[in-house]
Amino acid sequence: MAVITACVHRSVKTALLLLSVFLLSEALPASWLPGSYANTTSDALRFLSDYNSTAEEVFFKSVLAGWNYNTNLTDYNSKLQVGEPVWCSFIIPWVIVIHLKDLSEILANSRSYKKLLFAWEGWRNAAGVPLKQHYPRFVELSNKAARGDGFEDTGAYWRSWYETETFQEDLEKLYKTIEPLYLNLHAFVRRKLYNFYGPKYINLKGPIPAHLLGNMWAQSWSNIYNMMIPFPGKPFLDVTGEMVRQGYNATRMFHLAEEFFTSLGLKEMPSEFWEKSMLVKPADREVVCHASAWDFYNRKDFRIKQCTTVTMDDLFTVHHEMGHIQYFLQYKDQPVGYRSGANPGFHEAIGDVMSLSVSTPKHLHEINLLESVTSDVETDLNFLLKTALDKIAFLPFGYLVDLWRWGVFSGSTPPEKYNSAWWQLRFDSNKMELTFQERTEEHFDPGAKFHIPVILCYRYFISFILQFQLHEKLCEAANQSSPLHTCDIYRSTEAGAILKKVMEAGSSKPWPEVLQEAIGTREINATSLMKYFEPIIKWLEEQNVNETLGWPELSWVPPIPEGYPEDVLAEIKASARKWRFTNLEESYLIWKNSLLFIFFIIEENNNNPRFVFSSVAKLTQSHSSVDPSIPFALSSNYFMGFFINKIDSIKNKILDILPNMITWSSVSEAVLEESLKPDQCLDYLDTIELSELSKTFASSKTC
Ligand SMILES: *[C@@H]1O[C@H](CO)[C@@H](O)[C@H](O)[C@H]1NC(C)=O
Ligand SMILES: *[C@@H]1O[C@H](CO)[C@@H](O)[C@H](O)[C@H]1NC(C)=O
Ligand SMILES: *[C@@H]1O[C@H](CO)[C@@H](O)[C@H](O)[C@H]1NC(C)=O
Ligand SMILES: *[C@@H]1O[C@H](CO)[C@@H](O)[C@H](O)[C@H]1NC(C)=O
Ligand SMILES: *[C@@H]1O[C@H](CO)[C@@H](O)[C@H](O)[C@H]1NC(C)=O
Ligand SMILES: *[C@@H]1O[C@H](CO)[C@@H](O)[C@H](O)[C@H]1NC(C)=O
Ligand SMILES: *[C@@H]1O[C@H](CO)[C@@H](O)[C@H](O)[C@H]1NC(C)=O
Ligand SMILES: [Zn+2]
Repeated sequence: MAVITACVHRSVKTALLLLSVFLLSEALPASWLPGSYANTTSDALRFLSDYNSTAEEVFFKSVLAGWNYNTNLTDYNSKLQVGEPVWCSFIIPWVIVIHLKDLSEILANSRSYKKLLFAWEGWRNAAGVPLKQHYPRFVELSNKAARGDGFEDTGAYWRSWYETETFQEDLEKLYKTIEPLYLNLHAFVRRKLYNFYGPKYINLKGPIPAHLLGNMWAQSWSNIYNMMIPFPGKPFLDVTGEMVRQGYNATRMFHLAEEFFTSLGLKEMPSEFWEKSMLVKPADREVVCHASAWDFYNRKDFRIKQCTTVTMDDLFTVHHEMGHIQYFLQYKDQPVGYRSGANPGFHEAIGDVMSLSVSTPKHLHEINLLESVTSDVETDLNFLLKTALDKIAFLPFGYLVDLWRWGVFSGSTPPEKYNSAWWQLRFDSNKMELTFQERTEEHFDPGAKFHIPVILCYRYFISFILQFQLHEKLCEAANQSSPLHTCDIYRSTEAGAILKKVMEAGSSKPWPEVLQEAIGTREINATSLMKYFEPIIKWLEEQNVNETLGWPELSWVPPIPEGYPEDVLAEIKASARKWRFTNLEESYLIWKNSLLFIFFIIEENNNNPRFVFSSVAKLTQSHSSVDPSIPFALSSNYFMGFFINKIDSIKNKILDILPNMITWSSVSEAVLEESLKPDQCLDYLDTIELSELSKTFASSKTC
């Protein structure tokens, strides 16, 4: 659920800093050449104005290339987007690719301790370990890019988007406020898991084994809601069935969301949106399904890409994404440099604020998806617990990922401590719950969350807190006196006016000012969040009177189950075969989707003209052979060296194993598929060493 937009700094100071690197070369169209500027205020303004007009063109091309690639995954489009032939010819050694989607399904749905452990561990070993050796290099290059822009390191650069001197302390403070709620949720969940898995695997005074929480990273626990339901006799509000019965389709879901926005006096989606968005997964081609909202920077073209299915969850996602588009529309007349959220958390919050209203029984009744409003205390508690499993369980995780990365980027966490620092954060300093199993420096567990750390978790951390603050204020404006979790701002133009004010400003003012004008406070605080969850907090505290909050028995480790992993291996091996046959195509996409990662790097570097211009120079074919001469040592290629090296080494491995295929270009997917086809003996959940890989290839030819 990302927002595809450029993050551009607003300060003239930064612009001046950039002047010195603007000595660009012959490789760009003349009209894009920035000319020369002196170190004077008037030249700085002239620069900004030039930048404004050029950036619209450049961003348009760059975003369009990204869109074309993401909605039509072909080698050709991939080449256009990244400009590196290596990406096109890259074939996945699918044997070492674990199908995350299937593993995620195991994590979500299986209740077998062993199987869960297997999937959890397997993913970390397979996805994390191979990245370990490359990560320091990635950190180095990424820091280099940040220093080129005048920041101490990448962490400092990311924090700079929040423009608050005390950002780190503020996060700590926010986290402290919600901690009691988290601890109560944790104790309750632990008790329920104890009832199910028994004392062998759950210690009521220890951390919870992470693989039991329904998600590969234990970042959202709502997949185990069915084991946690406070009042099983009471319905849980899920209108999916009703939506299907009423013949909902994706278009209708988007129209419904649009109607919510317009009922607040906010903007309609423009006709280009309806013409050009991709609202369902197309039948005729592969796409990146990850839902996202796109600003094309030409003030006309705004699109959503989502493989929408008719479910209540997706209805909320539709609101979330449309919140991004609404934001784009509201700030589109700002100069390019100001077309982003007041801070990244704001952008993520807008659509979620709508969902807070839409998900209430009152509203679902009003839009005819729920027959009667059965809002009683117990049904409400069911609803609030489910929400808490999503939004509260996430907070420590969102916080942790950033702490870890800040340490890594600043160098205070050196490579030999990457993994232990990760676990220490999750575990030791009482910041997080968590788990166990022998994890050593040979492992690289943060790496198993690879593209997620890069997609900036704290924008969600901030957003999850901010959205409740906005919600409370909007409810006030809408004259709603009901408890916060039942408030619905539908049709309140007063509420809409507040949101409009926030969005129109874009990033033209520091976010504390935007917040002050909108809701009368300069700080993000968790007061509204605590108020929203108050009924469930009270209820959880009652349930937990006999529980030990937290995890005093920190060093407790659950035993390795007997027969692990052999039992599971046999069972999963069968499905492995199935995965291999049914998912080859998709596995291929997963690797290619690390291109998505590249895309985010491009996004993050959109405010780095060197980078943008160099990417665009490649996109415009006439210049593809000439790299713009960039005064710094850094080029986009260099920056991406991390990936290219990685892919090269995978490539070489495959070539070593298949010596009869002399050139890489002759290794097609079909050839690989052909040579691996027979009943292969896959030992696929572990990291596959070269020797094993060879064995697999060899045996597959004979067995
Ligand atoms: C720009 O000029 C001012 C004084 O006119 C000077 O203090 C400053 O260091 C100069 N900045 C750069 C980047 O040259
Ligand atoms: C997808 O991209 C290919 C080029 O690789 C192009 O020929 C085709 O028309 C595109 N399809 C759509 C639906 O855009
Ligand atoms: C979706 O539903 C609307 C009516 O609700 C209908 O007009 C439209 O044709 C449907 N679209 C598709 C693709 O079925
Ligand atoms: C930048 O472009 C926007 C949109 O055209 C325009 O409204 C704004 O005035 C421009 N700003 C500058 C400083 O040129
Ligand atoms: C927290 O923010 C709310 C507005 O959302 C404000 O009314 C309240 O005064 C703030 N509390 C503190 C302690 O700053
Ligand atoms: C909300 O309540 C206030 C005070 O009771 C009143 O002045 C205002 O008109 C009401 N607004 C709406 C939209 O009902
Ligand atoms: C807590 O323990 C007491 C004494 O054993 C018991 O009576 C009570 O029911 C327990 N409360 C809960 C919520 O389990
Ligand atoms: Zn989003």
